[in-house]
Amino acid sequence: MEDLKCCVASCDKPLDQAYWDAQYRAKATGWDLGTVSPPIQELIDTIEDKNSAILIPGGGNSYEAEYLLQQGFTNITVIDIAPTLIEVLQQKFVNQPHVKIILSDFFEHQGQYDWIIEQTFFCALPPTMRPKYVWKMHQLLAPKGKIAGLLFNREFEEGPPFGGNKLEYMNLFFGAFTILKMDVCTNSVTPRANSELFIELEKNTAAEVHLYNFEGITCSGCKATVSEKLTSLDTVLNVNMNSNFSEVVITSTEEVALKKLQDTVSYDEKYKIIKANY
Ligand SMILES: C[S@@+](CC[C@H](N)C(=O)[O-])C[C@H]1O[C@@H](n2cnc3c(N)ncnc32)[C@H](O)[C@@H]1O
Repeated sequence: MEDLKCCVASCDKPLDQAYWDAQYRAKATGWDLGTVSPPIQELIDTIEDKNSAILIPGGGNSYEAEYLLQQGFTNITVIDIAPTLIEVLQQKFVNQPHVKIILSDFFEHQGQYDWIIEQTFFCALPPTMRPKYVWKMHQLLAPKGKIAGLLFNREFEEGPPFGGNKLEYMNLFFGAFTILKMDVCTNSVTPRANSELFIELEKNTAAEVHLYNFEGITCSGCKATVSEKLTSLDTVLNVNMNSNFSEVVITSTEEVALKKLQDTVSYDEKYKIIKANY
């Protein structure tokens, strides 16, 4: 599992642009496979429409983009937050009009994609961002758009990478996505054998997925109570509060009025729910 160690700096540091750029400057890119991973290559081989809009977030050296180009795809976008890496990618894909290279925080990006390829991006984010990841993915996908790729099916002592398991992911994506595949991956690269899930998740176009800021919760018990109350509202399919209680993503069949959400949590005057600015 040597290739999974990607921390050279203290993991207490925020996993921000400075952190990721430092990894590239120090060439401390233990996650880098040097080639497209076999499961993602196999996935790409099933995509028939070569003009599909395809996003690779946290793309790193973007071997998936190279493979897509070789296969004749014409609408490929790579986003990464690390400027040092982006300079390299701009050289690598110079004169390639079919690949857009964007220096950006994924959560700031706007667009509409048919496919979003997940390859060690989710696991690189602090776990507290997972509900926001679901919200953002839903926002960036076109109707019937899909996230496809790999998630770790194991835990790590220290991250990044941050692991997880199937049940946790099913609960996280429930409602916002239809889970077409979430299976133990049988063709992972050797160092990751038996430790990945292959996922294919289709956007539930009928679902409203909204992100809120939350204030006032200080313990998991209170989080559970608030989540239960919000989940019991008519039309709500799923409620995911993050691990530091500062954000909550609510998935519903119709957008729930903010006043109703506020009333639901008002049994404790410390609790405040506010629509996030986006
Ligand atoms: C573990 S690396 C994986 C890179 C690549 N997908 C691979 O498998 O080789 C995580 C990547 O996500 C990028 N990243 C981290 N946070 C990001 C964010 N908020 N927005 C965009 N990129 C981000 C990092 O710069 C890094 O390139």
